[in-house]
Amino acid sequence: MIKSALIPVAGHGTRLLPATKSQPKEMLPVARKPIVQYVVEELVSNGIQQLLFITGRNKASIENHFDDDPELYRMLTETNRQELLEETNFKDLAVHFFYTRQRVQRGLGDAVLCGENFAGEEPFLLALGDSILGLHAKSNVVTRLVEVFESQQASCVVAVEEVPLQETAFYGIVQPQDGVGDHFPISNLVEKPKPQDAPSNLAIAGRYIFSPLIFDMIRRVKPDKRGEIQLTDAIQLLCEEGQRVMAVRLQPGEKRYDIGNFPSYFESFVEFALADPLYGAEFRKMLDRLLAKA
Ligand code: G1P
Repeated sequence: MIKSALIPVAGHGTRLLPATKSQPKEMLPVARKPIVQYVVEELVSNGIQQLLFITGRNKASIENHFDDDPELYRMLTETNRQELLEETNFKDLAVHFFYTRQRVQRGLGDAVLCGENFAGEEPFLLALGDSILGLHAKSNVVTRLVEVFESQQASCVVAVEEVPLQETAFYGIVQPQDGVGDHFPISNLVEKPKPQDAPSNLAIAGRYIFSPLIFDMIRRVKPDKRGEIQLTDAIQLLCEEGQRVMAVRLQPGEKRYDIGNFPSYFESFVEFALADPLYGAEFRKMLDRLLAKA
């Protein structure tokens, strides 16, 4: 069983400026909830019991969001808005929230290192705070990652999704050892290769499980040209050490909503809004009208 998760949220969100000048990209709304709330709901529904956010400057609103707000709760109780109360009160979720700061931005590998004391000697989940898995975060990929981690005695399991070959330079790309199934061993990984250098079109999709061995690997990774410690390079070192590294494929329909850039943020917002149980039908009509005019 894996009960701890790290959620790195320290990135500057430069691809989403000016929206992210003074607010974290993880707090941007996708339909009615901030992105990070979907991530937390997904992890809790997959049995995670404690979360460590790895934050940075300008990220205080994430802590505020998951904090209690007695005045708001009183008002919602008095006006009988039970549903909103449930969606804004995180106290009763079966999960504990912890926060730490990455003081200097030195890449995803370095951010993960900030969670070393929190993880201790236990394996842990890593969930990137800018990716929602599945429409309205309905995904059990984390449970599948845990199953494969345990049954295969792996040191690392990553979720992967197929991407168009011309987009490999946006992702970490894995090289399957033999064939490709629902889950399969991988022998190599490359961070953001050009299409001609990519070992496949299977991209790391923002959810990982690690044994604590990863921390030593991260310490051995040399910074890249931009001074960043890449997590993908640390996983590559695990492969080179002969450790078992596995991939689990996202299922068809289990889409990853990437909030790292505007086109895919817009698409995610529209898709979630169209599927909203309260406002979806009305929004669809409005969108039809707009598109008819365009
Ligand atoms: C990070 C990882 C990359 C992964 C991607 C999406 O990149 O470094 O390997 O494929 O997230 O999960 P970033 O989007 O932070 O540049």
